[in-house]
Amino acid sequence: MKVGVLTGGGDCAGINAVIRAVVRRAEDYGVQVVGIRRGWAGLMQPDLVPLNYDQVADIISVGGTILLTSRTNPFKKEGGPQLVMKNFRDGGLDALVAIGGEDTLGVAHKLAQLGLKAVGVPKTIDNDLSETDVTFGFDSAVNVAVDAIDRIRTTGMSHERVMVVEVMGRDAGWIATQAGIAAGAHVILVPEEEFDLEAVCESVAARRKAGKNFTLIVAAEGARVKLKHGQVTADQDVDQFGHPKLGGIGHLLAAEIEKATHLETRDVVLGHILRGGSPLAFDRVLSTRLGVSAMDLVMKGKFDRMVALRGNAIVDVGIEDAIKPKVLDSDLLSVGRLFS
Ligand code: F6P
Repeated sequence: MKVGVLTGGGDCAGINAVIRAVVRRAEDYGVQVVGIRRGWAGLMQPDLVPLNYDQVADIISVGGTILLTSRTNPFKKEGGPQLVMKNFRDGGLDALVAIGGEDTLGVAHKLAQLGLKAVGVPKTIDNDLSETDVTFGFDSAVNVAVDAIDRIRTTGMSHERVMVVEVMGRDAGWIATQAGIAAGAHVILVPEEEFDLEAVCESVAARRKAGKNFTLIVAAEGARVKLKHGQVTADQDVDQFGHPKLGGIGHLLAAEIEKATHLETRDVVLGHILRGGSPLAFDRVLSTRLGVSAMDLVMKGKFDRMVALRGNAIVDVGIEDAIKPKVLDSDLLSVGRLFS
């Protein structure tokens, strides 16, 4: 038996730990694993590499993905899905482990309707997949953000400035909220709730009036400004899944706050720093458990399913349900907002 493994969408810490676990578990079953490079692109134009445990034995702590990744969507190309199915069969593959977020797993689910035997593994720093308590990569990203914001805090306090920190989070404010709470932010802005620019400026001014000379704002890149800009994009481009390239909300906010309050304001974009580097222990363990369970699921013949964390157990759920966006916990956001 031969099982393919691919990684699609944005990378994050912990992907290599999943690949390692899939290959290791496959060896227990006497199954050959084949790496598919650059996500779905590696099945549009076949790019397959056999993987054995020696090759992946020492990658648990390594960031990124040894298989490379892309945002290729086979459904954007005429005949793309059929081509993927053909190349999958021609590669002698019997099943697939797809490591990805809503886009990659959305493709896996659609291809499952054409007969692809796919198991999903939930990967994204945005933590926006349903049916799992958390996605791997999220915890490492939040910790990197908190470490950076702690540093931004000391310089911001010393200069008595307003500091605006933009973090990733396209349509989900999980990173902004968790990092904002952990780093003691005074204002947290998320994509799920449009915010009023004037109200933010007023709260910054009110803090200063109350003798608090430092304000820390954490904004998700996808935060939406009420009545004005909506989301702020870096350019007009969209990727093959229709997502715009976000970025600039922090800069815009800083400029508007300085204009309205005359307080010295700086913005810092953490961006891809949150995706890169070594996974923390939580993600290494989670990724390892998910990889082992994904291979177990393949062996049980349970396809169009995703492995997921529920409490302390790894379970399997329908990919179709998992790719529905996970709504930000409003209680969590309310806790963050207590500290304005
Ligand atoms: O993978 C999710 C994500 O990190 C989002 O938070 C962000 O908007 C997007 O990827 C950025 O993608 P890219 O690296 O392709 O610009």
